[in-house]
Amino acid sequence: MNNTDIKPEYMQRAIKLAIKAVGHTAPNPYVGAVIVKEGRIIGEGYHRKYGELHAERDALSRCTESPEGADIYVTLEPCCHHGKQPPCTEAIIEAGIKRVIIGSRDPNPLVSGKGTGRLKENGIDVIEDYMRNECDQINYVFFHYITTKNPYVVMKYAMTLDGKIATPKGDSKWITSEAARLKVHEDRNRYSAIMAGIGTVLADDPALTCRIEGGVDPIRIICDTNLRTPIKSTIVESADTVRTIIATGVTDISRYLPYIDKGCEIKCVSTKDGHIDLIELMKRLGSLEIDSILLEGGGTLNWAALNAGIVNRVQAYIAPKIIGGENAPTPVRGVGIRMMENAIRLKDSHIIKVGDDYMIEGEIK
Ligand SMILES: NC(=O)c1ccc[n+]([C@@H]2O[C@H](COP(=O)([O-])OP(=O)(O)OC[C@H]3O[C@@H](n4cnc5c(N)ncnc54)[C@H](OP(=O)(O)O)[C@@H]3O)[C@@H](O)[C@H]2O)c1
Repeated sequence: MNNTDIKPEYMQRAIKLAIKAVGHTAPNPYVGAVIVKEGRIIGEGYHRKYGELHAERDALSRCTESPEGADIYVTLEPCCHHGKQPPCTEAIIEAGIKRVIIGSRDPNPLVSGKGTGRLKENGIDVIEDYMRNECDQINYVFFHYITTKNPYVVMKYAMTLDGKIATPKGDSKWITSEAARLKVHEDRNRYSAIMAGIGTVLADDPALTCRIEGGVDPIRIICDTNLRTPIKSTIVESADTVRTIIATGVTDISRYLPYIDKGCEIKCVSTKDGHIDLIELMKRLGSLEIDSILLEGGGTLNWAALNAGIVNRVQAYIAPKIIGGENAPTPVRGVGIRMMENAIRLKDSHIIKVGDDYMIEGEIK
């Protein structure tokens, strides 16, 4: 078959559609689909929300004319198993689609290669790996979660040009500009949960909610080995409206009651070196279908998370301000790494300007 008529703009459109659902599909992926017939888009759709139609069925249901003989561009391999929705491969076959152009491969063992196999068995032309890199970039959380069953952890912090996350007095409001803080709120909408240490709760009494219009509040997770979170803290006081998990090493359940009364969930985890075991905690959170976490810890929890190997990505906001102070806290504390050659490194790191500030982001190697 001649494939010269396959065009990147259709896959770009499918990607654009897919990311319209940011914050709404977890633990499912973002997927977009565009149906093209004789050089015209006749239908397009995306997976809008967890439990709702998959992108292919959404696009087929919106076709302005018969999709028989058309091409479908889809950012991720179509599923072939029954989940919350029936298999997309069957909808494509029934609609008489002639060719399927796929971006990402689906690492989900229930789908991987089987979706394309089912299409080919039914005489449909399948083009795989089309603009795969671009398509893969939208689903790094899904790929990690589906293969490890652990949440994808993004460690985010804001620091001054001289590497401080608060003044020696503990003041941290605000290090970065409003534009940078808005971007953080977009990420609180994007990721399923937000995690902080008890040190930050005691110092700042944060709300850890998403304050953008139409945004979804992340599930709040507090790492609090000895259950020191004040009952009068903003987080506990708002736990009846925003899902809140306190991870603790305390086994005396009578101490849980005041928190449970306020709407908190308490997860008792093992301790390691006197603090909660973060690896075990990640497994527990993964089993609750929490696919991603924005870690907004102070330097103590940040170091512990890096040291435990649970961090996947780092987002460092850098404000062009200097405050100095030997005792001003830094974003990563702990015992640190002794030799430069053993430094934790980022791959594919990039920098963007956000308002007056800069943000460097990359995945841990
Ligand atoms: N600029 C920023 O981006 C930013 C972000 C967050 C915080 N901050 C600032 O950071 C400061 C607080 O930093 P922090 O280092 O004191 O607080 P933190 O990292 O938020 O919390 C540290 C506490 O977490 C608890 N924890 C639970 N499990 C742990 C584990 N496995 N390993 C290590 N600790 C664990 C420990 O107490 P227990 O073991 O007793 O539970 C520990 O003392 C505040 O001044 C805040 O304003 C700045």
